[in-house]
Amino acid sequence: ESTLGAAAAQSGRYFGTAIASGRLNDSVYTTIANREFNSVTAENEMKIDATEPQQGQFNFTAGDRVYNWAVQNGKQVRGHTLAWHAQQPEWMRNLSGGALRQAMINHINGVMAHYRGKIVQWDVVNEAFDDGSSGARRDSNLQRTGNDWIEVAFRTARTADPAAKLCYNDYNIENWTWAKTQAVYNMVRDFKQRGVPIDCVGFQSHFNSGSPYNSNFRTTLQSFAALGVDVAITELDIQGASATTYANVTNDCLAVSRCLGITVWGVRDTDSWRAEQTPLLFDGNGNKKAAYTSVLNALNGG
Ligand code: G3I
Repeated sequence: ESTLGAAAAQSGRYFGTAIASGRLNDSVYTTIANREFNSVTAENEMKIDATEPQQGQFNFTAGDRVYNWAVQNGKQVRGHTLAWHAQQPEWMRNLSGGALRQAMINHINGVMAHYRGKIVQWDVVNEAFDDGSSGARRDSNLQRTGNDWIEVAFRTARTADPAAKLCYNDYNIENWTWAKTQAVYNMVRDFKQRGVPIDCVGFQSHFNSGSPYNSNFRTTLQSFAALGVDVAITELDIQGASATTYANVTNDCLAVSRCLGITVWGVRDTDSWRAEQTPLLFDGNGNKKAAYTSVLNALNGG
């Protein structure tokens, strides 16, 4: 196959990208995005600050722009993200305790109702664990509402849209030896044992010199899958875009039957949140990079 999406589809997987609504009038951008990818994640437009800018007043204008572009072009959509310490609107940053807990529940219900039945995977909770060697939860206003906030978010989400796969999504959980990876693994194992509804784990996979790719990523994906959840690579970018590393990541997903697919976090290097690291598959002019060819070859079986 000659595109990433079609090549991934040969094994029942998808190959996706983050889409920014502000770039949808750039025809170089939309031409590449439409040709190569068959899954879309809104880069910012379905986050809390975008969808509930004032408490109880939902706004889906930008989210729908991304959603409609995706669906009109035959792509599936990953939802990102419902409960997160970052990109909270000011009203939410000012809440705590029971009021914040209820606001989180209302937010999940409001957004999931709007997109009910339309989103294949939702990142229900994003980045809830601390970096470093403690394996602790990240301190945040949500965490301070009580340690059960994550399972409450997942139980709320299951009821709000029973058709969506419910994911926990994080970064720096790709390396099997890292404490953060083990902490998330232990949470997922506990959720599965206690019947908390969780279907998938998203590995953001923002690889750089501080958090480099390690070949034990495949062990991580296999270990989580063995708990009975699907896994997905959700925000892939690699500092310098080594063709070898891109192929290794692709092959790691292909090696794990429960790996649903790969999403890169942007189209061209110039679209990236880390543009200076030139971490993506297309250069600023929209030309395919060596990493593109290595990913396509891997998806095509060698
Ligand atoms: O839209 C406003 C614009 O009106 C304003 O003039 C401008 C001035 O700063 O800001 C614009 O908003 C920015 C937004 O991106 C859209 O470009 C925000 O400041 C900026 O903070 C925001 O950054 C996003 C970041 O999440 C925020 O947390 C990045 O685009 C987005 O790629 C990044 O994505 C995250 C994932 O959601 C979670 N995992 C990590 C990943 C990378 O940080």
